[in-house]
Amino acid sequence: MRFQIWQRWIPGNRLYLVGILVISLAFPGSAMAQLKGALEAPAGICPQPRKTLTAPDKFLKLKNPLEATPQNILAGKTLFQVDAKPSACRICHGISGDGLGILFHRVKPKPRNFTCVHTMDDLPDGQLFWIIKNGSPGTAMPSFSYLEDDQVWQLILYLRSFSKKK
Ligand code: HEC
Repeated sequence: MRFQIWQRWIPGNRLYLVGILVISLAFPGSAMAQLKGALEAPAGICPQPRKTLTAPDKFLKLKNPLEATPQNILAGKTLFQVDAKPSACRICHGISGDGLGILFHRVKPKPRNFTCVHTMDDLPDGQLFWIIKNGSPGTAMPSFSYLEDDQVWQLILYLRSFSKKK
C-alpha cells in the first residue's frame, strides 16, 4: 500500500523536479553571469583622465620585440606583483591591474588602470616603455631604470594582458 502511494506520487513529482531543475539552472545561472560580469568589469576609473608626458618620437616608434609567451608574461607578472624595486607595481596599480592598489587613495594623479581598453589601446608600447624606465615626474610613478630592457618588455606584455578579453 505504501509503495503504491509512492509510485503514484512520483509521476506528478517528475514535472516538479524538472521545474526545479530548469529554475535552478536558469536563475543561479543568471546570478552567476551577473557576478561574473561584475568581477570581470573594469573596476577602476575608465576612461581615465591622463596628463602623462608623451615619450620622444624614437621611443614611440618602438615595438615590443618579445613574444607573449607564457614564460615572458610570467616574468612580467613576477616583477609587477612582487619583485620590482622600489616597490612592486601592484601597490599602486592593483593586483588585477585596475589602478586600485593599496596606495590608490594616497596618490594624485591616480595610477593607470591597465584593464581600461579605452585608455590602453591608445598607448603605444614605446610610451609604456619610456614611462616605466623614466617614471612620470611630478606623480607617484617611480622610475625603474635599473630594469633590463627585456624585463621592461616582459612587464609590458603582462600589462597588456589586463586589457585583453579572456
Ligand atoms: C608608488 C605608486 C606606483 C608604483 C609602485 C608604480 N606605478 Fe606606474 N603609475 C603610477 C601613477 C600615479 C601613474 C600615473 C602617472 C601619470 O598620470 O602621469 C602611473 C602610470 C603608469 C603607466 C602609464 C604610462 C602612460 O603613459 O599612461 C605605466 C605604463 C606604469 N605606471 C607602469 C608601472 C609599472 C610597470 C610599475 C612597476 C614596475 C609601476 N608602474 C609602479 C604609480 C605607480
